[in-house]
Amino acid sequence: MKIKPMNVMLVGGGGREHAILEKLRESPRIDTIYALPGNGGMSEHAICVPISATDIDGIVAFALEKHVDFAVVAPDDPLIQGACDRLRDVGVRCFGPSASAAAIEGSKSFAKDLMKKYGIPTASYAVFDRADEAYAYLAKIPYPTVIKADGPALGKGVFIAQTEEEAKSAVSALMEQGKLGKSGLRVVIEECLTGNEASVLAFTDGSTLVPMVSALDHKRAFDNDMGPNTGGMGALAPNPFYTERAASECMERIFLPTIRAMNAEGRKFKGCLYFGLMLTNDGPKVIEYNCRFGDPETQVVLPLLESDLFEIMLAVEDERLCDVPVRFQTGAACCVVMASQGYPTKYGTGYEIALNDADRLKNVSVYHAGTKVEDGRLLTSGGRVLGVSAVADTPRSAQRAAYDATGRIRFENAFYRTDIGERALKAIENKNA
Ligand code: AMP
Ligand code: GLY
Repeated sequence: MKIKPMNVMLVGGGGREHAILEKLRESPRIDTIYALPGNGGMSEHAICVPISATDIDGIVAFALEKHVDFAVVAPDDPLIQGACDRLRDVGVRCFGPSASAAAIEGSKSFAKDLMKKYGIPTASYAVFDRADEAYAYLAKIPYPTVIKADGPALGKGVFIAQTEEEAKSAVSALMEQGKLGKSGLRVVIEECLTGNEASVLAFTDGSTLVPMVSALDHKRAFDNDMGPNTGGMGALAPNPFYTERAASECMERIFLPTIRAMNAEGRKFKGCLYFGLMLTNDGPKVIEYNCRFGDPETQVVLPLLESDLFEIMLAVEDERLCDVPVRFQTGAACCVVMASQGYPTKYGTGYEIALNDADRLKNVSVYHAGTKVEDGRLLTSGGRVLGVSAVADTPRSAQRAAYDATGRIRFENAFYRTDIGERALKAIENKNA
């Protein structure tokens, strides 16, 4: 029997969505892909539609108008706001959790309470709705400590305070000055964990959970992990710190217990569940959950996926993930994010980009994040502009290939870290020496 190819709608327009698009495109089961809103690079292989990723009414209306068979909702905001519930309500199948399951990212206090209730290892913490109570607590805890806005904050809601003074000013900014709006009116204050970080993305349909290859993000803006936190300046997969032992501990103590906990709370999670982990001396602990693919982790994880991503997504929605193959190749991938000078705070846009055929190099993908095409010219349109990913047999050669390709690309005020993967690779090379 011949199955009719499907029309797919991909919600989002960053580097992560470009990487998802490139993988979906390989599936013989897809006819047309619409990207809402997409970006300059995605327009090559998808029909980009100027509907914002947070315009849920617009997204639902578009899906009905175009007879979309399947939707992939990638960013956190529409997921937290219930885009998948609304789509399923009108009969559009989709990849992504319900709003009630997306709360695992949308509310840090919900996530922390869940972990406490079900014994999932994480930093000890307290939650505050009143600034005076938060200040009183700050007077009696050890430092450093971590202050987090409860709600979504685009990576800007976490403060590591070395002293009580610093902690107080973070609490004041969030709770009294309302610097992050509603997201910061409730704060979580938690123990500062030490160790190496790892990001693990997992496909889950609520009963089966399949972790993808692990990744190492680089959140700080500048080399040697200096400067402000960003959405992520580069990534390496697999994560050299994430040993087989850590993987099996995570599966047993964190991944499966989380799925069971969400089911027990009546919040079955279907989609990609992201585990932000700290590999501490006491074993792996959860730093955060995200209800979606990570960015830039996706740009190193999906290039290593051998199986058909669309088949996996269909199986997640139909709750038969155990029946489809999810295989990764044995090599490694490295992604260098090229940003505009001044990111993550103030930066210019509209600079013309010369790719100089970097995107034609073998085993290299140039994923677009903040780009647009205007009068046939490729221009920057955001802070994070491109993610240059390379796949190779070893992490070191993937890193070199990613930097070779990055070095070809030119645009005014471009900046990128020159040490993506370096600390981890050195640690592993020293251990093996
Ligand atoms: P998040 O937005 O929760 O991922 O936090 C951003 C970054 O802050 C993480 O990637 C960690 O580097 C750091 N961080 C968050 N929570 C903690 C913690 N409890 N201890 C140490 N570092 C943390
Ligand atoms: N790279 C971290 C995130 O996607 O939240």
